[in-house]
Amino acid sequence: MDVEALRALRTEAGARVLADVRARGGADERTLLGTLTALRASHDPALVSAALTQVRLRDRARAKFGADAERMFFTPDGVEQATRTVVAAHHAGRFARAGAARVLDLCCGIGGDLVAFARAGLAARGVDRDALTCAVAAANAEALGVSGRAAVERADVLSYDLAGWPAVFCDPARRDGRRRVFDVRAYSPPFSYLLSMAAAVPLAGAKVAPGIPHDLVPAGAEAEWVSVAGEVKEAGLWFGPLATAPRRATLLPATPTGGEVTVTDSGLGPPPVGAPGEWLYEPDGAVIRAGLVGEVVAALPGGRLLDPSIAYVTADDHRRTPLATAYRVRDVLPFSLKRLREHLRARGVGSVTVKKRGSAVDPEQLRRELRLPGGPGTSPAVVVLTRVAGAPIALVCDPPQRASGHAR
Ligand SMILES: C[S@@+](CC[C@H](N)C(=O)[O-])C[C@H]1O[C@@H](n2cnc3c(N)ncnc32)[C@H](O)[C@@H]1O
Repeated sequence: MDVEALRALRTEAGARVLADVRARGGADERTLLGTLTALRASHDPALVSAALTQVRLRDRARAKFGADAERMFFTPDGVEQATRTVVAAHHAGRFARAGAARVLDLCCGIGGDLVAFARAGLAARGVDRDALTCAVAAANAEALGVSGRAAVERADVLSYDLAGWPAVFCDPARRDGRRRVFDVRAYSPPFSYLLSMAAAVPLAGAKVAPGIPHDLVPAGAEAEWVSVAGEVKEAGLWFGPLATAPRRATLLPATPTGGEVTVTDSGLGPPPVGAPGEWLYEPDGAVIRAGLVGEVVAALPGGRLLDPSIAYVTADDHRRTPLATAYRVRDVLPFSLKRLREHLRARGVGSVTVKKRGSAVDPEQLRRELRLPGGPGTSPAVVVLTRVAGAPIALVCDPPQRASGHAR
């Protein structure tokens, strides 16, 4: 898509074609040929192709933007890199609670964060160097009814004047063509820019990859790892008064209605270590990345690590915690394929999910090699491979009971 195709899609005729593509089955392969044939007979074929691409991108974007996706416009890179609504609302909430009334959104992409800033009541200005991306961001602000509070400007952020801005957010590109870049120096703009940007304004935040090494987090900044419905999505760096703890894990629900849970280092010493109890707790990935597993241990009466270097927590009792998934432990065995297979068969286990930490075993290969019968009359189990005092063990657990919201 180019800027011209976007303009055409936003006309009345474009809206009609978009609606027609959707009404005829969208990008579904079974109806696609018929849809294209019918629509090309009465509309500009280029417009029909652009609409079909847009419908496909909206399908992909639904996981991030929910129902909003159907009103928004996307580029393939834009949808890939955009901040999902729940996370963007979290970013915006941090600025709003810190008292920012205006925010500069550097590298605004297709406007995931920009729209959230505007929805949070901030006057936002998005800046991106790509012309089409800027046009898409502006279209999205308008489509979602916040264009009055979300301006978009095409510029290179490296030469953008930050003077007078009370708050700045930057979400650098972390892709080089189709590949993801892990080296923070290869971000665009690079990590060094994020630091100079943060030094130039009162309130600053930046999105970085969840794999960011802890030693890259500058002194005085806060690093926040964010998960959504248990999946780690990003890390954020917060500067100035926005930095309220060195490290934080924030667990967001898939939809904004579930409430967020956030945890910081409460200054506990090294957690106790001890033998497997009746329950195994697997901390949320954001908690693990933030180095806050000790907080899970502290939240559980009698909580302890199975091994000082591995992020599995055990306790004798069940206690609901939003910070971890709890598994009822049925058996603990020294790890051997033969022994595990015999044990599972004897217990009538027909299928397993294999989890591991501190084990070199390939879970998928193990699952195949167990050759469990499956089928009626058998039950599922979770097999957790880990180490205790250097020795490999397998814990055979019940599948977790999924609860609503965060409680697990
Ligand atoms: C990760 S995306 C931003 C996603 C955005 N936060 C959202 O939620 O939609 C990064 C964006 O940075 C832009 N970008 C990269 N380097 C830039 C630079 N030097 N100046 C301006 N924009 C830049 C890219 O064009 C891309 O759109």
